[in-house]
Amino acid sequence: MKLCMIGTGYVGLVSGVCFADLGNEVICVDKDINKINLLQEGKIPIYEPGLSELVIKNLKNKRLKFSTDLKKSIRDSDIIFICVGTPTKKGNSSADLSQIFNVAKQISYSINKFKIIVTKSTVPVTTGDKIEKILSKKNNKKKFSIVSNPEFLREGEAIRDFIYPDRIVIGSNDKKSSRILKNLYNPLTSKGAQYFKTSRRAAELIKYASNSFLATKITFINEIANLCEKTGINIEDISIGMGLDKRIGSRFLRTGPAYGGSCFPKDTKAIISTANKFKINLSVIKSVIKSNKNRSNLLLNRVYEILNKKIKNKKITFLGVTFKANTDDMRDSSSLIMIPSLSKKGAIIKYFDPTGSKKEFKKIKNVTYENSIKKSILKSDLVIIHTDWNDFKSINFKNLTKKKKFIIFDMRNIYSPIKIKKMGFKYFSLGR
Ligand code: UGA
Repeated sequence: MKLCMIGTGYVGLVSGVCFADLGNEVICVDKDINKINLLQEGKIPIYEPGLSELVIKNLKNKRLKFSTDLKKSIRDSDIIFICVGTPTKKGNSSADLSQIFNVAKQISYSINKFKIIVTKSTVPVTTGDKIEKILSKKNNKKKFSIVSNPEFLREGEAIRDFIYPDRIVIGSNDKKSSRILKNLYNPLTSKGAQYFKTSRRAAELIKYASNSFLATKITFINEIANLCEKTGINIEDISIGMGLDKRIGSRFLRTGPAYGGSCFPKDTKAIISTANKFKINLSVIKSVIKSNKNRSNLLLNRVYEILNKKIKNKKITFLGVTFKANTDDMRDSSSLIMIPSLSKKGAIIKYFDPTGSKKEFKKIKNVTYENSIKKSILKSDLVIIHTDWNDFKSINFKNLTKKKKFIIFDMRNIYSPIKIKKMGFKYFSLGR
């Protein structure tokens, strides 16, 4: 099949490269010429384990191309995937669909024969109907079919998630397109992925409902962790005990800092905005957003308590500052709230992240990047483990620090409290 991916962000790039690897001819288009130039040389603008190797491999075998020529790419392809961003609108919480509608207009000008147009971007319910309207205006009758095929990739695990998905959701009101897409995904469904065909509107909502549900699950376990701290219970036992019930499941029941990233914060807000338009009150998701917002302040209060409310001139280290491990993405990371707040209170902060220094902290007083774990924690009073990169999982703290009174606050529950306390460190974690 000849595929065109419009937008080379996470979704477009990862899906395009993986589709090429499955044997399709793929052209990935973006209006950012610098990005396309880099990609043509096999250089990847984002951090995603394994992606670079797949891009180079598929460029070599000529199944993968990159271009800025949208019109030609559309004309040359059978299936067009819209993979542009849908960020939160400035000034309100709904999704900004301007890029989606721009692309729809471009497609309507360029259509030359029957095309399947698939939205992979996360779009509010009824967006497919609006795209259909835009395309219909241009006398394109019977030349297209609009399908919703939401993506469930996680940053840092994107390639594995593409190749081994739990399910593939196809929302289409047209039999021919559904059949073609079923064939396209056959290499994945034949290895066990569930294929779920539904209406276009349902597919659009499945994506928002899934992200909101996962955000709810995390927020739920974070609040239970707060209760565990007061009752002498280990939250890990609760996560395991609950997760053993197949109706609940063990995944996304790990306590941690406030959830972040480019998706959960944006999509929970957007689904509420959609529901408001239909006069529906999504009170559970509203509470989730509120609770998650409070979480960074709650953890900051724990830091104050751990340091006996004496923050001024305290040397604090952050290990990991991105919103989670295995990504360089800082969007809505809880470190963006915690680090500036501690700096304001007079702390001297050093941080190390495997993906390097971050522009977000450049102008913040007394915040410096160190290029190794050792340098960042050498004279520290308190080390905060903020993300669970493998690099942080077996640190020999004894050899690395000169301080005797050295405190560790493990926000990802990586270490065993018993073992680390035996080593003589003051150790705090979440929900235990
Ligand atoms: C999320 C979804 O998991 C993907 O299925 C979806 O495709 C994607 O959004 C999207 O809409 O594009 P992602 O944002 O990459 O993926 O990150 P997650 O791995 O879901 O983590 C989100 C946040 O939840 C992170 O801050 C992470 O630390 C936190 N988290 C996750 C927990 O605190 N506990 C957990 O058990 C799991």
